[in-house]
Amino acid sequence: MHVILTGGAGYIGSHTAVVLAERGHTVTIIDDFSNSHPAAVERVRAITGANIELREADLTDSVAAAKAFAGLNADAVIHFAGLKAVGESVAEPIRYYRVNINSALNVLDQIRERGIKTLVFSSSATVYGDPQALPIDETQPVGVGLTNPYGWSKAMIEQIIRDAAVAQGDLAAVLLRYFNPVGAHPSGQIGEDPSGIPNNLMPFVSQVAVGKRAKLSVFGDGYKTKDGTGVRDYIHVMDLAAGHAAALEHAQAGVTAYNLGSGEGSSVFEVIAAFEQVSGRKIAYDVAPPRSGDVAEVVANPAKANRELNWRTELSLEQACRDSWKWQSQNPGGYLGSAQETP
Ligand code: UFG
Repeated sequence: MHVILTGGAGYIGSHTAVVLAERGHTVTIIDDFSNSHPAAVERVRAITGANIELREADLTDSVAAAKAFAGLNADAVIHFAGLKAVGESVAEPIRYYRVNINSALNVLDQIRERGIKTLVFSSSATVYGDPQALPIDETQPVGVGLTNPYGWSKAMIEQIIRDAAVAQGDLAAVLLRYFNPVGAHPSGQIGEDPSGIPNNLMPFVSQVAVGKRAKLSVFGDGYKTKDGTGVRDYIHVMDLAAGHAAALEHAQAGVTAYNLGSGEGSSVFEVIAAFEQVSGRKIAYDVAPPRSGDVAEVVANPAKANRELNWRTELSLEQACRDSWKWQSQNPGGYLGSAQETP
């Protein structure tokens, strides 16, 4: 298949590009580099040896979107592009809705106009809010009691895709609800490169390990969980990338949602211990008050994806820590650091 990856230079997009190219698909990346680097695409090319086309475009602009999609004759689109910082979305809700919703609308216009029949959308476990029952399966309500505009934008785009698929009867759309993506490509060549202070646990822990940050704040140790800290379902980004390939290859007409997670919950203390073990570094931390909007425990029931996509996670939390550490220690300044070092 020829697959367009919007936001394909980003963390999950770049790993998915590797997996798709290795499975023999043709990949075109559209990105505006607002939270990513062209160097990531160069490294995807180096890892795979594939001839991956890169088009720079701001998909919130309908004219730019039309130009970016022109002449590609793609079979499928994976729509990763969007803003994703939860806290920032609370401070800048209008920007989050404008960027995430407008880009999704423009991508859907291009899909319809060009007769593209397969769409995979980067959704999030955040659409379930505070889960009613654990582990979470796809029958749980979506868009109830969400605590931030980022999460609402994902739930709204899911609904927009459902409506678009009713109108475009031959569209096969897959909504992939990611749990907590972590890890990096085992080469250490591509990985997560957050700008500024990381919002998420794993990049923060790896920056403490490498000496870039003094210590981690553990957001609460009084939750009703195995050790009082928040429990999440961490999924290795290479497993997540393979989930996208499976979704493309199994997409059926209509809209289907899948949880992409491991089904295993790990606490913040367990993540710290795993990272210390694989890196041989001590992770200094303080216990701080809970972060607003956080829930105690989020764990996937991935049975539907296991069954219908013939996909399951294969890599452990330890492997994810090892690969994150390799990426972080080989690229302490992220992609920009490497660009400065290699003129
Ligand atoms: N945590 C800390 N300290 C930190 C960062 C996080 O203790 O500095 C804790 C959190 O309280 C939570 C766990 O580590 O218990 C994981 O936090 P992350 O920020 O890494 O991940 P979240 O589960 O909060 O959010 C992630 C994605 C969101 C997505 C959500 C879906 O970042 O985009 O999963 O459940 F919406």
